Amino acid sequence: MRTFFIVFAFIVVTLVGIFGFRGMTTDRRPIEVFPDMDRQPRYEPQGESSFFADGRADREPVRGTVARGQLREDDHRYRGREGDEFAAGYPMDVTASLMSRGRERYGIFCSACHGGTGDGQGITRNYGMVATPTFHSDRLRSMTEGEIYDVISNGRGLMGPYAGQISVEDRWAIVAYVRALQRAHAGSVEDVPADNRGELGL
Ligand code: HEC
Repeated sequence: MRTFFIVFAFIVVTLVGIFGFRGMTTDRRPIEVFPDMDRQPRYEPQGESSFFADGRADREPVRGTVARGQLREDDHRYRGREGDEFAAGYPMDVTASLMSRGRERYGIFCSACHGGTGDGQGITRNYGMVATPTFHSDRLRSMTEGEIYDVISNGRGLMGPYAGQISVEDRWAIVAYVRALQRAHAGSVEDVPADNRGELGL
């Protein structure tokens, strides 16, 4: 009999606990077992601050200073330039792993507009972005690697800049992959080494 009451009480408490207060609202705060750092003084992004003379919470880097490791002197690597010209070639070795990284990043950042094969027929064309060019024109085929890097970094015409989303290394990896798309478009099976033709499913 005692066991019965204990089990009965347990079931009642469980059922009321689960279903009893469904849909009710309360003004009381939830119980905080570990409040830790839930509440602390902080600034919202782009918020105000009465501490600084200009009233902004966001601070700019001190003028004329460079953060450690951010000097970025290498013009080819960081700006795709050599002197006043766009640089040809890559500031790093183009390896198979760089290419596959480029392929992956291209799929994420570029293919929606430029299409999986770089023909400019991405999905956004169906939604009115008809200006996306193909990479397989003579002009874009003869564009230097540095200039493609610059287009990715700073945008051009109707295309926005991607420097904020894509790291320097990844931008070069994408450049290498764009080159591969261009080469593949103008290629034939004869260009593939005999040993690798199996990978094409031939
Ligand atoms: C939101 C759509 C969109 C995305 C995403 C996009 N592009 Fe573009 N891209 C364009 C459009 C539109 C143009 C044509 C710009 C113009 O001429 O006004 C263009 C132009 C270009 C050009 C040619 C520039 C020239 O001088 O004609 C290159 C190269 C290029 N894009 C590379 C890329 C790469 C690489 C990526 C991925 C990192 C990328 N784009 C992502 C829309 C896009």
